[in-house]
Amino acid sequence: MDAGNPTTARTIRVAVVGCGYWGPNLVRAFTELPEAEVAWVYDRDMGRARAVARQFPGIRVAAGLEQVLQDSGVDAVAVATPAHTHAALAEAILRAGKHTFVEKPLALSSADCRKLIELARSRQRILMVGHTFLFNDAVIRLQEIIARGELGEVWYLHARRLNLGQIRQDVNALWNLAPHDISIMLFLLGEFPEQVVARGYDFLGQGMEDLVTLTLEFGSGKVGIIEVSWLSPNKVRDLTVVGSRKMALYNDVSTDARLVLYDRGVDNVPPELTNFGEFQFRLRFGDVHIPHLPMREPLRVEVQHFVECVRTGKRPLTDGENGLRVVEVLEAAQQSLAENGATISLVRSVGLAA
Ligand SMILES: NC(=O)c1ccc[n+]([C@@H]2O[C@H](COP(=O)([O-])OP(=O)(O)OC[C@H]3O[C@@H](n4cnc5c(N)ncnc54)[C@H](O)[C@@H]3O)[C@@H](O)[C@H]2O)c1
Repeated sequence: MDAGNPTTARTIRVAVVGCGYWGPNLVRAFTELPEAEVAWVYDRDMGRARAVARQFPGIRVAAGLEQVLQDSGVDAVAVATPAHTHAALAEAILRAGKHTFVEKPLALSSADCRKLIELARSRQRILMVGHTFLFNDAVIRLQEIIARGELGEVWYLHARRLNLGQIRQDVNALWNLAPHDISIMLFLLGEFPEQVVARGYDFLGQGMEDLVTLTLEFGSGKVGIIEVSWLSPNKVRDLTVVGSRKMALYNDVSTDARLVLYDRGVDNVPPELTNFGEFQFRLRFGDVHIPHLPMREPLRVEVQHFVECVRTGKRPLTDGENGLRVVEVLEAAQQSLAENGATISLVRSVGLAA
């Protein structure tokens, strides 16, 4: 579905709601785009909004969300507030007829995601979710490598997102950190999991899990394992893909080897070539290759894509349906956590975009 009313020729005027840790990054990224300008910032903590406005002269501080929504010169609003506020804010913004960018996760329930998708459709407005890693050149290259079969058949993916801090009080580590890895895995495989199993642990005793592991089982037999924690000494952000021919490692914190391809694996040796006439496995240690990647900032690519969609009516890569798919997996994982690691079946409600 393409949104109507393309505003091709002129500068897109944006407002950013939420000026905590992430909101100022969105403000900066929008301001750096020649085709966009930030007209307003709003935070229910006025001091934070004022601090951002001081850094970016020309941006006005709104006294309330209504002031932003009533400004007919505002084309789009980006939401960078805590996850539990996303659904209500996005609904108000779409109802006011503004294009809407929402940080991940799109909402805390699939029902809310569907409501937002329907609102965006009926109002013919762009709805995009901040699955930033789908705009990361290492992830994009990895998807191309997998799609052209360079790794052979993908057997499993293993993602780790660990560090110390950013302990949330509204959502657990699953809802805060795993949206990224789930969105990456669905993008890399172009497939929706059939089953989800999750286990989590609440070491800080705040009633929500600080450490979560989840396993996604895909109909094709592929498996995705995700570990997320905000109680770990070092920042780890990596994803290993193990294929039947080659393996790949995407390390987001590496400065010079964000994506590494390993010509490594296990070869089957036919019985006639073995001493005992049985199948044997032979380990293969071949070349290691580091593809050259562009130095683009994923956040900039992401907001540029949003602005382009607003200008042209193009459907975003990370549209409402994409946000919904991730939330469906999170919901299933949450149910599994509540049922002590029970296997939860997922009914695929939407088709994956080609
Ligand atoms: N895409 C990414 O890589 C990435 C990275 C970090 C955070 N995020 C997302 O960004 C969002 C914000 O995270 P953060 O780390 O900046 O949180 P934060 O707690 O640092 O900041 C949130 C801000 O929102 C304000 N706020 C809360 N409720 C509000 C409301 N109803 N109206 C207006 N303002 C309100 C708070 O006062 C605060 O200043 C989260 O959804 C998070 O998942 C995304």
